[in-house]
Amino acid sequence: HKDLLDIDQLNREEIGYVFQVADRFVEVNKRPVKKVPVLKGKSVVLFFAEPSTRTKTSFDIAGKRLSADTFSLTKTGSSLQKGETLKDTALTLQAMSPDAIVLRHWSSGAASFLAQRLECSIINAGDGRHAHPSQALLDGFTLRQVWGDDFGGKTVLILGDIAHSRVARSDIRLLTMLGAKVRLCAPRTLLPSGVRTWPVTVGHDLAKACRGVDAIICLRLQLERQKAGLLPDLREYAKTYGLNDSHLEKAAPDVRIMHPGPINRGIEISSALADAPGSLVLDQVTSGVAVRMALLYLYLTRTISV
Ligand code: CP
Repeated sequence: HKDLLDIDQLNREEIGYVFQVADRFVEVNKRPVKKVPVLKGKSVVLFFAEPSTRTKTSFDIAGKRLSADTFSLTKTGSSLQKGETLKDTALTLQAMSPDAIVLRHWSSGAASFLAQRLECSIINAGDGRHAHPSQALLDGFTLRQVWGDDFGGKTVLILGDIAHSRVARSDIRLLTMLGAKVRLCAPRTLLPSGVRTWPVTVGHDLAKACRGVDAIICLRLQLERQKAGLLPDLREYAKTYGLNDSHLEKAAPDVRIMHPGPINRGIEISSALADAPGSLVLDQVTSGVAVRMALLYLYLTRTISV
């Protein structure tokens, strides 16, 4: 494959291969000198038209640890701010011959739009509410470190603002492909209209939804994507859908808590639970570096297919 636009471009075997390569980079990341020369001479543009801490920094660190040259472009620091179109910006970047563009954009389909027009690899780092494949891969990789390769018999609850979440959409694809069952819990207003066609079960009662689950992925309430007038009352939302200790009584005894970040503490999850021993939130961040090293390596050397 030239591009990584969403999880459905990969089969289960290819996902397993990404994880195996990421395992090797976990070892590199434990060394005193965390650098290998495998992408020396390659250049990667990090083009982030929306804010990011985890994804942008970890792709940057990943590229540098592989000895690639990385260059950053953000909306406020680029000519997007002067009204230049995505297409013109992308053609301008292509004229500088990068080997890959890691793109985050507010518009669903932006990564696909560039992939059809550019020769270099496009890695989707989040497009609108459509997809966030590297997040799904790092979420799966983090759970695999706890559960091993077999996700059969595991149930993952995804909780919160499903409607606006590209993470939920990509996680559902990946987790079901790996054999886990996925359950969603959200108020009706935060579920997309087509959810009944997804390979998930859906509930609205958080206490019931937590029964027997092996992992809970809490989602950020994406206030910036909500239409004015449809904003939930935050206190009411936190009371009804904010995850806290009391919800875990009926979950599996070793239930793991995850969140892609950034967290609205006290809204979608209690601060105590985000920091509890069963929380994998920072493990997800650590996994992100190794998984993104694997992705840059596999896509820039065009060895993703197995
Ligand atoms: N999870 C995630 O995409 O975080 P950032 O927005 O900080 O990159």
